[in-house]
Amino acid sequence: MTFAELANPGILTQPIYEPGKPIETLARELGLDPAGIIKLASNENPHGPSPRGLAAAQRALQEAHLYPDGGYFALRQKLAGKFGLGMDQFVIGDGSNELLELLGHVFLSPGKECVMHQSAFICYKLVALMFGAKPVEVPLATGLRQDLPALLAAITPATRLVFLASPANPVGVANTAGELAALIGALPPHVLLVMDEAYVEYLENPPDLRPFIAEGCKVICLRTFSKIYGLASLRIGYGYAAKELIAILQRVRQPFNVNAIAAAAATAALDDGEFVARCRRENFAGLAQLQLGFKALGLEFVPGQGNFVLVKVGDGMTVFDALQRLGVITRPVKGYGLPEWLRVTVGTKMQNERLLKSLGGVLAGK
Ligand SMILES: Cc1ncc(COP(=O)(O)O)c(C=O)c1O
Repeated sequence: MTFAELANPGILTQPIYEPGKPIETLARELGLDPAGIIKLASNENPHGPSPRGLAAAQRALQEAHLYPDGGYFALRQKLAGKFGLGMDQFVIGDGSNELLELLGHVFLSPGKECVMHQSAFICYKLVALMFGAKPVEVPLATGLRQDLPALLAAITPATRLVFLASPANPVGVANTAGELAALIGALPPHVLLVMDEAYVEYLENPPDLRPFIAEGCKVICLRTFSKIYGLASLRIGYGYAAKELIAILQRVRQPFNVNAIAAAAATAALDDGEFVARCRRENFAGLAQLQLGFKALGLEFVPGQGNFVLVKVGDGMTVFDALQRLGVITRPVKGYGLPEWLRVTVGTKMQNERLLKSLGGVLAGK
């Protein structure tokens, strides 16, 4: 018997996540100098890692021979203080992606359903399929806005999870506090809202869902250190929710699911308010720069609120390939059902200039 024949049902048809292309890979493939390549493909922080986080990671490396504190006490204590919640309301994940999977372990199995938007972050669908559950995808509203009443309408007795990101990826649009309150208030008691807040730190006034958690509404919020804190490579994120839900999630994670270097970096990064504020300011300026540039090129775009912009370029794959040959990596979103669009991460001022210039050249056929 072959390994394929022995594999569990669904494994061979499980779609595979396609990440943004690393700089080294593109350099190798096209024979380019890696130093001349810019990557605006994975919504990483163009300003590097949080300096406090980096220093803490370097210190923690000295103890790399020891297992981590598997309870992640220091990080959960810092988070509890920052959020005004109990330490027992936080679970730490190997990136927030791992937390999506832990939720699948706890709540999904064949016969269950997950509700999400079409063109939502692909990992929601991947997690549903991985556990044999059915992903139910709801169309976006006009302007690629997320349609929360439509999410509610798609809930059935088999639904267990509703996945929602705000700002959404790849569309970039955020929902208002009022829209979120209406959704949460109308959720039936057998459904948990997974509120993905990966980009929430880029908002000026992010909606605060803690009061809903305190009232006993079924909501878990997921955050990451991969974006505004600039620690994507370390793979660390967290979730906050009712302590009863967190206790169940703690049962399905590996004992040392996050390494000590990442945990130390994340703990220190939470104190890097200055860095975060600077990145948020730079991101606002970068969003404006890109959007003005797209306007000047006559291109339609979605006024995003995260650290990326969705721009309509015609044939997304062709433009993506042409930009790559110029050493500019962007993200085609054909796999999200948006073949005419590209997703561009907000870079530094110079990187944004280079993207706009290259894109202008490609579209003019130069
Ligand atoms: C909406 C959304 N959620 C979660 C993640 C994953 O973040 P992490 O790096 O913490 O796994 C991403 C990463 O791009 C994202 O866009």
